[in-house]
Order: sequence, then structure tokens, then C-alpha cells
Amino acid sequence: MTPLRVVFIASEAAPFAKTGGLADVAGSLPNALRRLNVDIRVVLPGYRQVFEHSLRQEPVWTNLNTWLGSQRLTFQVRKLPIENVAPIYVIDREDMFDRPHLYGNDDGDYYDNAERFIFFCRAVVSLMHAWDFTPHVVHCNDWHTGLIPVYMQLEPAFRQFKTLFTLHNIGYSGLFPSDKFALTGLDLSHYQPNGLEFYGQWSMLKAGLVYSRAVSTVSPTYAREIQTPEYGKGLDGVLRNRRASVFGLLNGVNYQMWNPETDTFIPARYTPDDLSGKRICKAALIQACQLDGSLMERPVIGIVSRLDVQKGIDLIIPILSELIESLKVGLVILGTGDGMMQQRLQRASESYRGKFAFIQRFDDEFARRILAGADMLLIPSRYEPCGLTQLYAMKYGTIPVVRATGGLNDTVSEVNEHTGEGTGFTFKHVDSTDCLTAIQKAVGVYRMPLTWRRIQTNGMSMDFSWEKAAQNYLSLYRELMRDSTI
Ligand code: ADP
Ligand code: GLC
Repeated sequence: MTPLRVVFIASEAAPFAKTGGLADVAGSLPNALRRLNVDIRVVLPGYRQVFEHSLRQEPVWTNLNTWLGSQRLTFQVRKLPIENVAPIYVIDREDMFDRPHLYGNDDGDYYDNAERFIFFCRAVVSLMHAWDFTPHVVHCNDWHTGLIPVYMQLEPAFRQFKTLFTLHNIGYSGLFPSDKFALTGLDLSHYQPNGLEFYGQWSMLKAGLVYSRAVSTVSPTYAREIQTPEYGKGLDGVLRNRRASVFGLLNGVNYQMWNPETDTFIPARYTPDDLSGKRICKAALIQACQLDGSLMERPVIGIVSRLDVQKGIDLIIPILSELIESLKVGLVILGTGDGMMQQRLQRASESYRGKFAFIQRFDDEFARRILAGADMLLIPSRYEPCGLTQLYAMKYGTIPVVRATGGLNDTVSEVNEHTGEGTGFTFKHVDSTDCLTAIQKAVGVYRMPLTWRRIQTNGMSMDFSWEKAAQNYLSLYRELMRDSTI
């Protein structure tokens, strides 16, 4: 069989540029597909962070150009010279991407994100004209790439390419005012409710959802949820209309990067058969966070999260005294994001010194120290398309306590303390008391060391590897190729 040719476009990819799980996916899925013999190329924006990470790059084209409204913009395309991975091409134009952050700073999103990502989409189209690579599938991810399926449909040379749009988070819709629409170069027939228009503005996410041949999202439960008004953020109707071509494919884990047996960032390594290293990691975490030594014998709960309303971190504020004073657990939160949330967590951690540490930064190494050193990882999300930290936690023998939504619902199975089955603790409603009940149950089981150990082992032996997950993408690509209706 001739290898399938795929272009995979995303706005971030680990380890080059990362704000969340999309980067983990875009950094691993293309390589897993490559191992399945897919001829795949990745395209990213040329952020400052990408060039800082990969100091050498091969200039491939130094003088391509595209339109942004009536302006002709030139740009370069560079290739990162990394061997044995899916080749990565970056769209390089300094005034667009050479900035301290990817999407914005403490004051909010960059004022010109419409310009930046319209340019990115249009530059990808120019790149596809320039290179001698004819993909079967153009795989776009999230709103930053949403215009690409529209341009693919409009360009006669590209119309036969199958476009797949993967939705990682419906909460980020790439919504812009009508006066920015002209920058897309699209005629006004696309500025309609059945096109890009969205309640008086227009949405790059909606563009991807409407114009791609198929839509996928990152878990089966989330694929169903986004077709309901409760989770659809106003786009549930669009998705219901397309339900025959909406798929839910669970993300995977790169166990070469996330594995306590090999992780060099954690103080000690360990295996499912010998967890003594995990105790060393716990002691080191307690020390690094200046928590009471007595917590060595009590459960320490970790959180590694963006501080966004999505993540439901606010649910724990009303139950802090219950957690720390009655249940006597320790709490370590690593996160950045919403300014108000940061302040509330900062204040709370000051009033529970020695019991509660709040670390306000983005720190991949410390994230791993928490995953390894904590006993439980709490993820009380309002919605969670897939969620990766619960998968990492399980591998590190850290028991997830999660709200049963989206991918959390698909990956964490409720513990039965009588049989020792299950991998974590779940609660249903977006509600502090419900969350507390799940934590109380977890603390109860923590007092039963043999059962706890069994649940750790259950989680550590789960296989969420990309090898399996990539196979599902490959099947979907092949289905796209076969089916002329999608
Ligand atoms: P989301 O993409 O919604 O943020 P995921 O669970 O899919 O959620 O992925 C989050 C990723 O970002 C994980 O790799 C997690 O370890 C990482 N992460 C989140 N917050 C931080 C932080 N403050 N420091 C380091 N890594 C973080
Ligand atoms: C998003 C979602 C998260 C998912 C990640 C990767 O950021 O919030 O649930 O795991 O994308 O698909």
C-alpha cells in the first residue's frame, strides 16, 4: 500500500512551544503516525520559543508570500533539522511570531491575534503551493488553523485533499469582530450563519467545523457532550448537523517522556513492582514546598493545571478548611492563568502554610515532581475534552480524583474498595460538596494500604500509548479516503 501523505498543522507542539495539552498531542501524534508508515509533515508558527529551542534550522524557502487583506506579506519557511521524527516546518515572520508568549501576556490576548492566525492559515496555503508534496489528508487542529479547510475547498488545486479538523477545546473559538473579516480574503457569502458568522462576529473555530470533511475531538464522551447545549458553547447545532462526520478519538501518552521508570527530572525512579522511589519523590516534594513532614503519612493532593474556569479549581476554595483541617491532607497546586484565581490561591496558601503550597508558574519539571510525589491528582474540570494529566498521574502511581466529564469520564474508572478494582475516584456534578465526597472516599481508601497499592498498580499498568491512539487516526484517515461523502 502506498504510504498515506498527511500535513498536520497546529499552533503549538512540545517540546518547542507549549501552553497546554495540544502541544503534547502535536509533539507526539505525528511521530506515532510516522511509525505507522504515514508520510507526515508538521507545520507550526515560527515562535521565538521554537527557535530558542532548536537553534539550528534549515531555510527551505526564504521568500514566499501571501495576502493579509490588501497587504502582500513575505515570509520564510524553515525546517527543524531533527532526525527520525516527522519533519517540522515553521512559518517564520518576525512581526507575527517573535514575541515573549504564544497568544498573549498578563493583560490578555495579543490585540492582533486575528491578523497573526489568518496570516498563519494563508501562509500554510502558500507553502502547500510551493512544495512538491501532495497530501491525501490535511489535518488541522483548533481555531488557529480553522481557515485552512475553507481555503482547501476554494482552491481548485486542493479540493481533492481530505480535511480533518480536530477540536481540542470548544471553549476557544477564535472569535473576531466583523471588521477583521476582510483580512481573510473570503467573499461575504462566507459571512453567513451557515458559514463563519457567529452572533454578529465570526469564528475561526466555526470555519474549521463547517468546512472540513470530518471533525474529530479528543474523547468519545466529549464528542457527544459538544453536541448538547450544555457543552456546545453555541456550536452544538453545527455539530449536530454534522453528527455523521463527528468522531471522538482518545488522545494518547508518550511514555518515553512520561514514565517514572525513566524520568530524569524526578528525584528517584520507580516501577510498579517497587514504589520505594515514589516515597523519595514524595519526601522531596514535601521539602520543596515547605510542607509539614507529618504529611509523609497523610495523603498529599496535587494539581497541575491552567487556571481557567474550565478546570474548576474554584470548586476547591469552599472546601479548603474541610480538606486541610478535617481530612488533614496536604495540597500542592502548580498553575498559572486567571489573575483573580491566582490571587485567591495565593491568599489561601498563605493562611494554610505548611499544608498548602501554591506555585504560580509554568514549569514542566516541577509538574513531573508533583505527578511523582503526590498521592492523588485532583482534576475537578467543568469540562475536559480529553485531559492528559490524569493519564500521566496513573502512570506515576498517583491516583486521579476527577469530575466524570469528557475524557476524564473515558479514562478513569471508579474504585471499588471492596474488590480493589478501578483506577480513580470520580464525581458527577460541578459542585464542591460532590468533589469533597470523592476526596473523602479517596482518603478512606488511602487508609487501606493494600487496596491503595492495588489501585496504583491498576493505573500504572493501563496502556494509553500513542501507538494505539494513532492507529485510530490512521483508520479515520483511510475512512476519509474511501468515503466520498466525507
Ligand atoms: P489542557 O490542554 O486543557 O491545559 P491537558 O491535561 O490536556 O489540559 O494538558 C495540560 C498539559 O499542560 C500537561 O502536559 C500538563 O502537565 C501541562 N501543564 C499545565 N499547567 C502546567 C504548569 N503550570 N506547569 C507545567 N506544565 C503544566
Ligand atoms: C485541550 C483540552 C484538553 C486536551 C488537550 C489535548 O487543551 O482542554 O482536555 O487533553 O486539548 O487534546
